[in-house]
Amino acid sequence: MDSEQIKLQDRLKKEAGQTAADLVESGMVVGLGTGTTTRFALEEIGNRIKSGKLKDIIGISSSIQTERRARELGIDITTFDDHQEIDLTIDGADEVDPNLNLIKGGGGALLREKVLAQSSRRNIMIVDESKVSPKLGTHWPVPIEVIPFAWKPVEKYLNSLGAKVALRKNEDGIPYTTDQNNFILDSNFGPIAELNELALKLGQKAGIVEYGLFIGTASEVIVAATNGIRYLKRENL
Ligand code: A5P
Repeated sequence: MDSEQIKLQDRLKKEAGQTAADLVESGMVVGLGTGTTTRFALEEIGNRIKSGKLKDIIGISSSIQTERRARELGIDITTFDDHQEIDLTIDGADEVDPNLNLIKGGGGALLREKVLAQSSRRNIMIVDESKVSPKLGTHWPVPIEVIPFAWKPVEKYLNSLGAKVALRKNEDGIPYTTDQNNFILDSNFGPIAELNELALKLGQKAGIVEYGLFIGTASEVIVAATNGIRYLKRENL
């Protein structure tokens, strides 16, 4: 991507984030996703808290990184110990299919993101138009969180399911670790024909903590496109 394309993508991410912030109301428990698109939503929520437009907001964060940013922006943070139900979660995605199924975990926060998604009354996903895809797996591998002890047998298992697997690494070549100190296997299955079947197989393998296929969790997807904002809603499917 050249610098003009990056600028455009950032503008679209910002629009998506700001549009999602419009759905937050005073008094809500808000699930805070992770990633560059969600950051824009966080900033907007923070601005509205500062200006007094939003009051009594508490967030449950999907990552240490988001929690840090939220606190900087003046968003109070709680945990599931005190609040088990989230009114609204705002989160990004790597790939979105026409049925609002998602690939998530590009930022490594898939496990906590899925916990948030399953604990939320409403899940708003925010993406720029590059994330929309005819079939999951077309543009993005499925991030799979594994315990370090098991990554080799899990890699072998994923290979047997037809995936090309890459252990995610930091720039220094050291394996990337999640907030839970696990590894991520970015698993390229190509376009996935049977999502539920694959999810079932991934759920069966010991050592896999969570996989980045989010099937049926999104209530709405806000897509920021060059010709405006599009809302994709589960109830319209
Ligand atoms: C974090 O683990 C991911 O699920 C992100 O939500 C996803 O990768 C989207 O990130 P961007 O908004 O940075 O593209």
